[in-house]
Amino acid sequence: MTPIRKVLGLAMAALTVAGCASVAADTDYGDAALAMFKQDFKSKGPATLERIVARDDAQQACSEQPTERPSEVNARIEAAQLKTIKYPADGKYIGKWEEGEKVAQNGRGMQSSDALGAANGGNCYACHQITKQEISFGNIGPSLYQYGKVRGTSDEIVKYTWAKIYNAQAYTACSNMPRFGHNGVLTEAQLKDVMALLLDPASPVNK
Ligand code: HEC
Repeated sequence: MTPIRKVLGLAMAALTVAGCASVAADTDYGDAALAMFKQDFKSKGPATLERIVARDDAQQACSEQPTERPSEVNARIEAAQLKTIKYPADGKYIGKWEEGEKVAQNGRGMQSSDALGAANGGNCYACHQITKQEISFGNIGPSLYQYGKVRGTSDEIVKYTWAKIYNAQAYTACSNMPRFGHNGVLTEAQLKDVMALLLDPASPVNK
């Protein structure tokens, strides 16, 4: 396998294994793979070429130094990403946990087979344990079971959790976690619902 094929193969594997286009939104490709995408990929529905090949400053910096970066570089990325976060206009952060569970379970969205404008899922279970009831989950991210029970619901925790889900790179430069608010994967209402799943004392996460 040539290095180019290998990079491309890995990128495609990441897309298919995660089964989630929102993951693809933050996947970093090497320049050779990027050139191949530009040449061969055709936009279809919500899966646009633009979304795959256009890299913002953070993605560019992460592609240049994917594994080891000086702490100043990480700090610069995180500070810039923190500035992108939009907090809820009405000051209300907590929606309905039942709806949040549906968003967390749903791995659809932003793929060529999805309708334009259809609601996306968050696919949170692909990377996190969340409720005890769901026994199928990935472990790229930490377990979020009992998140609200352990962290509490102080203003600080509520704002941190919102910001983390809105733009994970505000706290972890080059994170594997998709930037759900920043990239427009989830709506404000959906973000409130996943917040409830993690923080509402009535949510099964905190039982
Ligand atoms: C592709 C994997 C992936 C997906 C999908 C994902 N996360 Fe994450 N998440 C991570 C990783 C990895 C971390 C650890 C910190 C980091 O690297 O950003 C994390 C950290 C977090 C944290 C911070 C935990 C702490 O202890 O402070 C929260 C909250 C969170 N994720 C919520 C969510 C929610 C809600 C969803 C779905 C809407 C989601 N994540 C989807 C990978 C993912």
